[in-house]
Amino acid sequence: AAATRYEAENGTISQGVVESNHAGFTGTGFVNFDNVAGSSVEWTVNGPGTVTLAFRYANGTSADRPMSITAGATATTLSFPGTGSWTTWRTVTVRAELAAGTNAVRAAATTADGGPNLDSLSVDSAAGTDWSRA
Ligand code: GCU
Repeated sequence: AAATRYEAENGTISQGVVESNHAGFTGTGFVNFDNVAGSSVEWTVNGPGTVTLAFRYANGTSADRPMSITAGATATTLSFPGTGSWTTWRTVTVRAELAAGTNAVRAAATTADGGPNLDSLSVDSAAGTDWSRA
């Protein structure tokens, strides 16, 4: 099945701004999170189903920018390691169990560096890495 893409710049952004100064993003830009813990973006995704959440991002530093990921009633933390430059975009995935109806899918920075630059979330029915249930 084709994945459904949710642009980061169309999500609900807290402590971040939409920018377009690093090439290679889809849509109209990406979210540059403030360099603070708790900076976040949230989308509303329809369930139910077992899905893979794929986050497309760039991290031009050498330090991980981990984010807490919540989707419906489940939660985990994902690593967003350095990609080599702010114009090199990579994808990290995690499996999620979505409830019937609407589910809030949220990515929130867990360290003082804030999140990586986030381009999009894609939701697909394929299997991802193990998902730890809340
Ligand atoms: C640089 C870069 C930004 C990035 C920021 C960061 O300023 O241009 O796009 O968000 O570093 O470290 O978060």
